[in-house]
Amino acid sequence: MTTQTALSTTNSLPQAGQVPNFVVGLEGVIAAQTRLSSVNGQIGELIIAGFPLEALALKATFEETVYLLWHDKLPNRAELADFRQTLADFRSLPEATMTLLRQVARQKVSPIDALRMAASTLSLQAAGEPAMSDSNQRDALALLARFPTIVAAYTHLLREQEPLPPDSQLSHAANYLYMLTGQPPSEALTRGLETYLNTVVDHGLNASTFTGRVIISTQSDLVSAIVGAIGALKGPLHGGAPGPALDMVFEIGQAENIEPYLQAKLNRGERLMGFGHRVYKVHDPRAAVLAQAAQAMYQADGDMALYTLAQQVEQTAIRLLEAHKPGRNLKTNVEFYTALLLHGLGLSTDLFTPTFTIGRVAGWLAHAIEHQETGRLIRPKGAYIGQKERQWTPLERR
Ligand code: ACO
Repeated sequence: MTTQTALSTTNSLPQAGQVPNFVVGLEGVIAAQTRLSSVNGQIGELIIAGFPLEALALKATFEETVYLLWHDKLPNRAELADFRQTLADFRSLPEATMTLLRQVARQKVSPIDALRMAASTLSLQAAGEPAMSDSNQRDALALLARFPTIVAAYTHLLREQEPLPPDSQLSHAANYLYMLTGQPPSEALTRGLETYLNTVVDHGLNASTFTGRVIISTQSDLVSAIVGAIGALKGPLHGGAPGPALDMVFEIGQAENIEPYLQAKLNRGERLMGFGHRVYKVHDPRAAVLAQAAQAMYQADGDMALYTLAQQVEQTAIRLLEAHKPGRNLKTNVEFYTALLLHGLGLSTDLFTPTFTIGRVAGWLAHAIEHQETGRLIRPKGAYIGQKERQWTPLERR
């Protein structure tokens, strides 16, 4: 007797084009209208709520960017102060969230999985949480404000330390760094993180944003939409790992190793991490912004050695990739300088994806709310390729 545990699939799936209107991976399919962000891969352009990324990311505080996405306008001084204060008032975690984090830390669950589990508990109220009559607005504020608290608290619990309470005087970005390290961060480090969070806040209808929109389109709630979006983001094809790009720079170690190291990788048929992109065919605008932010941060720190080495790696990689795949325009992508920037902020690689989530959650929430206002139930069709005329056999005769 054989025991079959896995679902079997037919091995003769039709290819795109054989089934009318079937587009593998929905590539190129327009599935929503949005005012939130526009990604144009042909000219290397990312627009966030009307602003080219380059005009926004290096100047705005993260609170300003979120306000812009959520309200479709930049806040004035009073609106910004009010938004900052409201967010700060939501930072503390419900008791049940802390209990959960303590339990999962004992099992050494990864920080991104801990964040996914803890996010589910954010429908619960925290002690002293401001009263809000609109539960949608309350959930959006609780999710945005509490992700840094969860990630920082979990980092301490993994090290068997007690988490630090948030500091309501600090900005969203500065408070995250403070809760991680126990030190109020320098202006340069805060600016570096603000720029990173602004840069990753939204990026068209990527897989996690689409997931969130699908969930909210059933008239489900924001917490459910965001938990689903984290599940989509954590996969290696999406929120993936800027870690390997950093590992590559560390393995290279010094300038004279760059070319032999990279050439050997290409000769072995391996990919150079942090280069190439599915959508951006001329350049990834996020890479240029993050390179500038990382440079300012390392300069302020006074040690440019790693940044200079990374720049040399980048130049050589682009030259070798052009020789390796002529005309394919394989340029630096967002992951290369993300790795450098987050490392410069003192974050370990397992915090890279959770920190990405701390920025992207604002975009997910903006999309979910936009879909609530204007969208329709998302319900595509599948092309049936199974059998049609099977005969039923009673169990005892199978
Ligand atoms: N190193 C070496 N060769 C590469 C690289 C690379 N980084 N990127 C693409 N190529 C090769 C491909 O193998 C392909 O070769 P082929 O025509 O012989 O098959 C050719 O160049 C063209 O590739 P594209 O079609 O432009 O790349 P694709 O869209 O399939 O993949 C991807 C895009 C996954 C980002 C790819 O460039 C890659 O693997 N890069 C390295 C990993 C990485 O940096 N990932 C993060 C991306 S940013 C983000 O997702 C947020």
